[in-house]
Amino acid sequence: MAPLLLGAVMLVAQLQLVPSRPAVVPGNEPGQLELVRKAATLQEEIPDGAAPNGSAQQLPQTIIIGVRKGGTRALLEMLSLHPDVAAAENEVHFFDWEEHYSQGLGWYLSQMPFSAPHQLTVEKTPAYFTSPKVPERVHGMNPAIRLLLILRDPSERVLSDYTQVFYNHVQKRKPYPSIEEFLVRDGRLNVDYKALNRSLYHLHMENWLRFFPLRRIHIVDGDRLIRDPFPEIQKVERFLRLSPQINASNFYFNKTKGFYCLRDGGRDRCLHESKGRAHPQVDPRLLNKLHEYFHEPNKKFFELVGRTFDWH
Ligand code: A3P
Repeated sequence: MAPLLLGAVMLVAQLQLVPSRPAVVPGNEPGQLELVRKAATLQEEIPDGAAPNGSAQQLPQTIIIGVRKGGTRALLEMLSLHPDVAAAENEVHFFDWEEHYSQGLGWYLSQMPFSAPHQLTVEKTPAYFTSPKVPERVHGMNPAIRLLLILRDPSERVLSDYTQVFYNHVQKRKPYPSIEEFLVRDGRLNVDYKALNRSLYHLHMENWLRFFPLRRIHIVDGDRLIRDPFPEIQKVERFLRLSPQINASNFYFNKTKGFYCLRDGGRDRCLHESKGRAHPQVDPRLLNKLHEYFHEPNKKFFELVGRTFDWH
């Protein structure tokens, strides 16, 4: 309740500052969203000359909420191929970090890119999906927001999660235990390993569904996005009611990287080398235990969202 009140107070405080601007997202409900759009301009706070050609910062009309290591960067980069999308470059961590959230929507807005009125602003912070406070806070900002959630096989996600933290340590020249040391305790699967919890999608999804109807959350199949990104991105375009402007020719498979890369106006680029790293080899019996562990949670998740995924 307290966070909701805080959110409401912050929103009202912001609203008093701002002039109105035209609606920019076709198909979104009026009402609170309209108020948020007004909050999203805060023109007075933008220094003269900082907004060329009538562009302005807007609060996001869509957020990639996670999941960590699901393919969130790839999704954001691919979506950014669309001319009507303006993406925040960095992970903003507004709703999950108190030091950011306490600064209010004005601060959040200041983190957004300048965009034309017809463009959709998007930010991605993968930690939102698994942070219990976040759904209510996002709802407090805009109950009609469209959320993007990219998920992949939960066991694979655990390995990817481990790999990321492992390399963070390597870069700092710090030692890091093997994945087995995290996964096994007293001869059993160590269910206290945090990376496992992040892959219990049904638990986190339940939190989001307390505040948002399923139709507001589009789930991108992260495994398919790796294998064949274009159809997944087309679905995202439809969900966001964007005109179909991203083409199959925007993607090409790069054999060296082993992943699809992007072609944008003749410019080719792959994702950063930290995306698409080899995962550690895990004993097949341990891997099996991991698959078994996720079997029931996955079933619950499928029931929750009325859709199945090709996971172990
Ligand atoms: P791995 O590095 O474990 O393979 P996130 O951006 O959420 O951290 O997700 C990272 C994951 O995005 C990578 O995990 C990789 O598998 C996946 N991914 C999806 N499409 C990709 C692409 N075209 N290039 C690189 N990685 C991609």
